[in-house]
Amino acid sequence: MPPEVGEIGSEFHWDPAVLLSKEATPPLLPAGHQLYATGCGAMSALLRRLARPGRLHVPSFFCMGVAEALSQDMPLAWYQHLPGDGPRWETVHAGPGDVVLAQNLFGREDGAGWRGWIDAHPDVTVLEDHSHDPFSPWARSSTAPYAVASLRKTLPVPDGAVLWSPRGLDVPAPAGPGNEGSDLKLTAMLLKAAWLDGRPVAKDTFRTLQQRGEQALLGSDAPPGAFTSAVLPLLDIAGLRAAATGNVRALESLLPGVSAGARGPAGAAPFRVQLFCADQVSRDELLAHLARHGIFAPVHWRQDRHGFSSGDDEAADRAERILTLPVDHRCGPAEISRMAGVLSAFGARV
Ligand SMILES: Cc1ncc(COP(=O)(O)O)c(C=O)c1O
Repeated sequence: MPPEVGEIGSEFHWDPAVLLSKEATPPLLPAGHQLYATGCGAMSALLRRLARPGRLHVPSFFCMGVAEALSQDMPLAWYQHLPGDGPRWETVHAGPGDVVLAQNLFGREDGAGWRGWIDAHPDVTVLEDHSHDPFSPWARSSTAPYAVASLRKTLPVPDGAVLWSPRGLDVPAPAGPGNEGSDLKLTAMLLKAAWLDGRPVAKDTFRTLQQRGEQALLGSDAPPGAFTSAVLPLLDIAGLRAAATGNVRALESLLPGVSAGARGPAGAAPFRVQLFCADQVSRDELLAHLARHGIFAPVHWRQDRHGFSSGDDEAADRAERILTLPVDHRCGPAEISRMAGVLSAFGARV
């Protein structure tokens, strides 16, 4: 049965209220795009198609699982890009034949620096990752050769990613039939909705389906499932972005120490709220404290200093101290004030 006090965070469920209430808004997906099951699969398909001889330059604060997967397609180099600081340009040592992965980290950047960098480096192929805000002003006015966004981080769909070329270049199509992970994830979303509605569904049932689905989807370059393809044009994306942004702003206003500079450019829909603790021990204690109160905060992203990692000490240090407060379109004022209360009971500092 659902908990007495609702959970905050965790995987999206399916709720038809996220659909447009009336038809006919301008299409938000970029011209010439291809849809994939996953962002990682889309990036990998593009790198294989480009077959550039050089290296793939990856931000040092990034999803290590995705970086490791892409290292199968191209040798990696790292440049420094820390949360709130933007890329450190002098660490981007890319030359002709190289590909640079740029990112809109936590949806709080405007891409102005990248625009200049792209103009100044016409022999380097830049691939922008807009997964944290796929419909930001930057994403929609990009001048990069290629761009990608994983969709299920911000939209309530079981799978999906969009790959496009802001310059109008060809992008590869997904491979083969669908991935069974799409169906597993959709089933989990439907059962979670029933559980939230008080139906006798065991939580383990949909959690297991979610996890099996994610496992099956990992790095898939298949097309998205039928559900995602059919629902994407019907989603009220503007409404979802506005609701998520309003909730992010409301939570930020209740937390001490969120600087104006970290808020992101006009028109941005920031990707939730990130906190930095004093050290890894207090971060892990805070994660556990939040979980005890039904607030499931993920970590974007862990770096294993002794395993696959960027080798950037500052990035590894931030990775040890960061957590993401799961504030998205699903929250209302009650969830925002509950989160702020649970945080202040812990004595968290931003
Ligand atoms: C910033 C970013 N880009 C791309 C991806 C890859 O997306 P997907 O999980 O759809 O492969 C992830 C996944 O965590 C991500 O965090």
